[in-house]
Amino acid sequence: MAPFAWRPYLPILVFLCHTAAHLHASEVIPGTDELVYNGFFKADLNLDGSALLINDLLSLTNMPDGTNGHAFCSYPLSFQRIPGGSISSFSTTFVVTIGFRRYKGHGLAFMLSSTNDISDNSAGQFLGLPSSSSDDHVFFAVELDTVLNPEFKDIDNNHVGINVDSLLSVESHTAGFYDSSGDFKSVELRSGKPVQVWVDYDSKSYRLNVTLALYSMPKPELPLLSTPLNLSSLLSLSSLYAGFSAASDKFTSDHYVLGWSFKLDGEAQPLDYSQLPLGLVKDLKHHSRFQYSGEMTILGAPTIIPAVVLIALAVLICRYLRNRKEDKEFEIMCGPPSFTYKELFTATDGFNDKLLLGKGGFGRVYEGVLSNSAQSIAIKRVSPESKQGKREFMAEIAILGRVRHRNLVQLLGYCRYKKELLLVYDCMPNGSLDKYLYNKGKPVLDWAQRLSIIKGVASGLCYLHEDWERVIIHRDIKASNVLLDNSMKGRLSDFGLARFHDHGVDAHTTRVAGTWGYIAPELARLGKATKATDVFAFGIFMIEVVCGRQPIGMAVDGGEPFVLADWVLSMWKSGSVTGAVDPKLEDYDQEDAELVLKLGLLCSHSLPKLRPCMRLVMLYLERGARLNEFCPASLSVDPDEDKEIDHVLCSSGASTITVLSGGR
Ligand SMILES: *[C@@H]1O[C@H](CO)[C@@H](O)[C@H](O)[C@H]1NC(C)=O
Ligand SMILES: *[C@@H]1O[C@H](CO)[C@@H](O)[C@H](O)[C@H]1NC(C)=O
Repeated sequence: MAPFAWRPYLPILVFLCHTAAHLHASEVIPGTDELVYNGFFKADLNLDGSALLINDLLSLTNMPDGTNGHAFCSYPLSFQRIPGGSISSFSTTFVVTIGFRRYKGHGLAFMLSSTNDISDNSAGQFLGLPSSSSDDHVFFAVELDTVLNPEFKDIDNNHVGINVDSLLSVESHTAGFYDSSGDFKSVELRSGKPVQVWVDYDSKSYRLNVTLALYSMPKPELPLLSTPLNLSSLLSLSSLYAGFSAASDKFTSDHYVLGWSFKLDGEAQPLDYSQLPLGLVKDLKHHSRFQYSGEMTILGAPTIIPAVVLIALAVLICRYLRNRKEDKEFEIMCGPPSFTYKELFTATDGFNDKLLLGKGGFGRVYEGVLSNSAQSIAIKRVSPESKQGKREFMAEIAILGRVRHRNLVQLLGYCRYKKELLLVYDCMPNGSLDKYLYNKGKPVLDWAQRLSIIKGVASGLCYLHEDWERVIIHRDIKASNVLLDNSMKGRLSDFGLARFHDHGVDAHTTRVAGTWGYIAPELARLGKATKATDVFAFGIFMIEVVCGRQPIGMAVDGGEPFVLADWVLSMWKSGSVTGAVDPKLEDYDQEDAELVLKLGLLCSHSLPKLRPCMRLVMLYLERGARLNEFCPASLSVDPDEDKEIDHVLCSSGASTITVLSGGR
């Protein structure tokens, strides 16, 4: 048994189970220069390095291996509204927890920085602060320094310091506070207990105060540090980012921020203690103890017990611990189960076959109604097979639970039951798109609806590829994975999970995870899913929606199977690409249809590097960029002849251009 194997997973994000409860907790008050995060649920932050959100807790570091993490407000603040005008004062307060496992960290700092991208900075020693100001990077930081470094014996390893553009503090003091009678009480920063810090800067009197207190204590009258400081040149920068930075050494150490309030010209709003994720910090802490005691139970068993009994006992204990560990592990990653089996059982009338929505490569999907809230849900019953699969699966779900976008089907929560996992999704009352395209008793979608579905799915996929904090490859884009909501908007479902498909069940699902007809040639060859393989599938999808035909048709009388994209291409070559448009469409926009079909063909180009990225696809669809003319011949190139084609640029910039010289 490997008692600590779960450790690296500990910080992995937790499911947002009680969404509603958190919704009002954090807010950025628009129009004012103020932000209040009572817990970081849905916080608008740029995270890098080891920083991540564990549910509503901001975790800067808690991975092993000398990491550092940063979290900055995603938009810049402006301390000087008019160039040359007066400079704003600021006030901020935050609650942090440092340490509690074998702590080897360096501490944490609040920062105002000229950039919110200091990810390359590897100077773990220095709280993840930039190590020199030789470059253009300027900053102000209040550090909670806990470095235990024998090389710096004379440095107090439990101090609060003020730093400007340098790792050397302008001023520092042992961490603590002055009580009402003016006596100094020291506070151990790395105790794992929450502490609150206030930083107040007055731009008129050029004074900076830093005050520290134990959690939930009122703010002490006397600041810990009060120093004359002229921050004018820093604060007059047109953009400054506020945020946090932390660094740890080789061992796991924890730096968490529980709440943060910031205000320009005025006192920062007090934090609402009842909303801060203290419980979560306790859970994380408790969990590490549980592991240590587990280890001791086994090692400490008395040797006088006959060996056989001992072994038997050990096996039982191991198994018990492992099961508990698995449950715990799952909970830590995904949060406590958000639904009970009983609830789901009732919601689906005992998983009644009448409520079966479908059977996928994945498992069975049921429709249900929650009895307490009358909310409609869809429940997927999944049984990941291998142990490895299960672990990955859990990690995946923990992450997917946090992905939110109007064109993605929202994962609401989960429930474990025996070996099964039940995933609960928003129910999409109108079912999947394929039913409409192939007219299985559904009305024909008109052109506007089709175009809006295509745009919606493009936007959802673009979010997964480009806008979320990590790249999520969908792996199985197809009409049956696009569900329609109340207003017939398209929503992509099952993102990121396709690789866990049980390959045996669905004949159309292949070994490489995906569906025939939507699989890019290099995916079939190399088996590696990428953004470009998703774009390929999306291209096929676009064509499918416009033509109302399956990507691959059955071969009639032993002939070649019908390949939709090839057929569209041949229509184009023979003069009219719009000849391929679904004949069921009575009316459609000629120009739009042409664009979508050509774009579909370009997306499903056999050379991955010639496919546009999703951001660009969206731009073309929204007519924010013009798809350059290209001729059908340029689509059927041999891999060796790609020199003929100029580069397709694809970057995050909005001004990217696609150039296909085409022709031979
Ligand atoms: C800083 O502390 C001093 C001394 O307590 C106080 O007089 C001053 O108003 C404080 N300044 C700010 C900006 O809070
Ligand atoms: C503060 O710094 C600014 C810019 O460096 C300078 O113009 C100003 O005179 C300074 N004010 C004081 C009181 O030192």
